[in-house]
Amino acid sequence: MSAVEQREALHRESVSKAMEALAELRRNVDKDPHRLGFHFMAPAGWINDPNGMIHFKGEYHLFYQVHPYSADNGLKHWGHAKSKDLLHWEHLPIALAPSEPFEANGCFSGSAVEDNGKMTILYTGNVARPNKKQVQCIATSEDGITFVKYEQNPVLADFPEEGSADFRDPKVWKHDGVWYMALGSGKDGVGNALLYKSPNLLEWEYVAVMAQGELGQGIFWNCPDFFELEGKDVLLASPGVTPSQRDIRTNFCRVGKLDYASGTFYSEQDGGVDLGPDFYAPQTWLDDQGRIILIGWMDMWWNPMPTKAFGWTGAMTLPRVVKLREDGGLAFEPVPELQELREEEAAFPVTTIVPDTGNVLGDVRGDCLEFDIRIDLRRSTAASFGLKLRCSDDGLEKTVVTYDAERGQIVVDRTKSGTVDGGIHRFPVKTPPGELLRLHVFLDRSSLELYVNDGSEVASYRLYPDAGSLGTELFVEEGQAELISLHVWRVRSIWGKDAGSEA
Ligand code: FRU
Repeated sequence: MSAVEQREALHRESVSKAMEALAELRRNVDKDPHRLGFHFMAPAGWINDPNGMIHFKGEYHLFYQVHPYSADNGLKHWGHAKSKDLLHWEHLPIALAPSEPFEANGCFSGSAVEDNGKMTILYTGNVARPNKKQVQCIATSEDGITFVKYEQNPVLADFPEEGSADFRDPKVWKHDGVWYMALGSGKDGVGNALLYKSPNLLEWEYVAVMAQGELGQGIFWNCPDFFELEGKDVLLASPGVTPSQRDIRTNFCRVGKLDYASGTFYSEQDGGVDLGPDFYAPQTWLDDQGRIILIGWMDMWWNPMPTKAFGWTGAMTLPRVVKLREDGGLAFEPVPELQELREEEAAFPVTTIVPDTGNVLGDVRGDCLEFDIRIDLRRSTAASFGLKLRCSDDGLEKTVVTYDAERGQIVVDRTKSGTVDGGIHRFPVKTPPGELLRLHVFLDRSSLELYVNDGSEVASYRLYPDAGSLGTELFVEEGQAELISLHVWRVRSIWGKDAGSEA
């Protein structure tokens, strides 16, 4: 065997070992009542960032950071799945496993592009000890399933003066026949995205600091993403922060224009992608309909994760179509495909609700539900109104989503949401007082996603209630709320009986 063949064999062996470990871990996963019904999850193990999102030969490929040896954060591999409809996922073999010295502590995040008909992954090789060293590598696949690492990896080994040892998560795209790559890094306590260019994906030339943050906003950036949307350029990134800095924004989007000549991104609008506490490292697909579709990791590094007891942690958010709003900011709407999972509808007559109306949701019970609630704020006098979900019959457990009319905020109370006290979280909604408020809510067992006003504000949460806590309630306090419409659907599971067993 040649040296190159030996290295390839080592990679294959590393993949097989990881697959065996995953199969072993999978044995208890389905016993967990917190397993999700209609979100993407790995077969087992710990997962974090979505990676390498590419729409290839009519299928959406989703790679992701996975630790296959336990449900704890550990040695990162690239998990892999694909979907024809963004709803149902077929698990595929692990695509990348660490097998080279320069990736001894993980094959970290990155992206995928099509180059000469081949699926090509760019990822970070991570060495953590004794000194942190992060390098950029390439792997290719003929069939979109089995990946071969480039024999001359790494293709980019050293960070520029404007960066630091945190130098990772290549996002690659093509513009006017030239490949560009944004890397997450930072310098002197300020996060940044570094821009490179290449004629062939193999030789990379440093261009400039594409964008940067400010002191106190995270010391480096992770997982930059970049795409064009309706004539604008968009940059996303996730600042790296420690648990004690959790008030710092951990994801953002900038809408503006990248000046390719200087490599500078000029931002016109700066906002959040997801305002909830359980969201990180979003990435996007560009699909064949020209849509930009975003998915994020629906969890966070420092969270208590009770699902570890069953051999898994972490999931992805629902896929969200990214749209440009009239005010120049972004909106993130659940993909319309999700409507196909609606099973049973409870439609309610348009009505005025007052504190003593009783629970208009009556006997709607469940843990996989979608709510679409439209309220006319002009005719509503209520100090607050909202939804109680996952309520236990004895009233001890509940998750409460409230619109606080006075403050113009959504308040999510997870202090009684089960085994984990998620605290109280608030975020402002931009709806001018006196207009329409749309609350589009997806409850999926241990997750809750809120889409406010057609995705102008989005927030994701995890919760761990008892399996029997299934009650729902629509409530109003002090005054009345005028409903324009109220729809509730039971949502069908996307997973078959042996969800994920192919992996
Ligand atoms: C972000 C991140 C990335 C890195 C990956 C490792 O969540 O820290 O920067 O590539 O996770 O799993």
